[in-house]
Amino acid sequence: TVDGQGRRVFELRAQAGESDLGHGATRTWGYNGAYLGPTLRAKRGEQVVVNVRNSLPEATTVHWHGMHLPAKVDGGPHHPIPAGGSFQAAWTVDQPAATLWYHPHPSETTEKQVYRGLAGMFIVDDDEPAQAALPHDYGVDDVPVMVQDKDFDGDQLSMAGRFGSDIGVLGDQILVNGTPSPYLDVHSELVRLRLLNASTARIYNFRLGDGRPFALVGTDGGLLDKPFMTDHVRLSVGERAEIVVEMRPGERVALRSVQSLGGDLGSKFNGGQDAFDILQLRAAATLTPAALPKTLVATPRLDPAQAAQTRSFTFSGREINDRKMDMDRVDAVIVKDTVEVWNVRNGHDTPHSFHIHDVQFQVLAVDGAPPPGELSGWKDTLYLAEGRTFRIIARFADYADPTTAYMFHCHVLKHEDEGMMGQFVIV
Ligand code: C2O
Ligand code: CU
Ligand code: CU
Repeated sequence: TVDGQGRRVFELRAQAGESDLGHGATRTWGYNGAYLGPTLRAKRGEQVVVNVRNSLPEATTVHWHGMHLPAKVDGGPHHPIPAGGSFQAAWTVDQPAATLWYHPHPSETTEKQVYRGLAGMFIVDDDEPAQAALPHDYGVDDVPVMVQDKDFDGDQLSMAGRFGSDIGVLGDQILVNGTPSPYLDVHSELVRLRLLNASTARIYNFRLGDGRPFALVGTDGGLLDKPFMTDHVRLSVGERAEIVVEMRPGERVALRSVQSLGGDLGSKFNGGQDAFDILQLRAAATLTPAALPKTLVATPRLDPAQAAQTRSFTFSGREINDRKMDMDRVDAVIVKDTVEVWNVRNGHDTPHSFHIHDVQFQVLAVDGAPPPGELSGWKDTLYLAEGRTFRIIARFADYADPTTAYMFHCHVLKHEDEGMMGQFVIV
């Protein structure tokens, strides 16, 4: 709803409930319901107010992943909402249209809370002509696809697999938007899927069942310059991709996850050799014609020559630069409105997922080489494969607050909870 001052107001209540996830009555958590939360949607330039109430038996927070907003309302571990408490986050949306999401971020209990079901999508809209040229009928030809894997013990969710695992639970039940064995009826030649890896640990390598190419049109922070044709897209925890799939009348095609390609070592954790279906696409006998735009949104490249600062962060074990998270330590003090280059390296043999709050960054290089097409757009989360070094660039604009930190961390939630996180302030 829009209030008297023209602000878009959302109400979110974190609560416990029971859901049917294909295994009977399962105790789960959700926002405004038993599992997951509503898709929030606001337009660039709009003022947003979210009133969060915590009806859970323990403290939580709500973090707006990918959103550019003041640190005080970022929902990080410094701002717990106690059981029975509430919190109001208000900010003005000022970033390109994108597929963002929200999830809890309390100190040391994020993995469990997300696993139980606390997560939702947050779609930002803008007036770019490309948005209108792409499929944009929500739930019809523009569809959220929140992918999660769960492990069940009887009719209840189990986290037993996290013990003894280096990255956490890898479940054998796939849910899309909380639904087991999902399918989507498609009525037009093009369908846009907003893929979000909302799992706690698993890395997906999305492909179509027959290996056909599809168009990657957007990454974490917005649309690419132009559609990038590919036959796979890999998403580590927290990453998003907007893809457009072309369908032929009457056909059925599965969106699948298959073992990672090439020599990429992350695959060994991706359920070993397995390949599994995510979502069945079922085309109607007649389809509405649709065409993919040739260009999307031209995005200026940030210039490393302008960087005020270069920093290096090595991820290893549960540490970043050999240090675990300390709520009282600030790891980087960044001057407002400056551009910084970060060298982010995985110095170990476990895959990580690198995420920064508040900003969207561009990838300058991967192991010294120009980034591949799928990393050509705005990102806030990166699959940090073993041994790889990513050179990224971001502008830290608008919100100075020397006393309130933003986070950067591994988005494998077990790693995050175990301390693989650092803090920065903008001054
Ligand atoms: Cu999606 Cu710091 O988190
Ligand atoms: Cu975030
Ligand atoms: Cu990690």
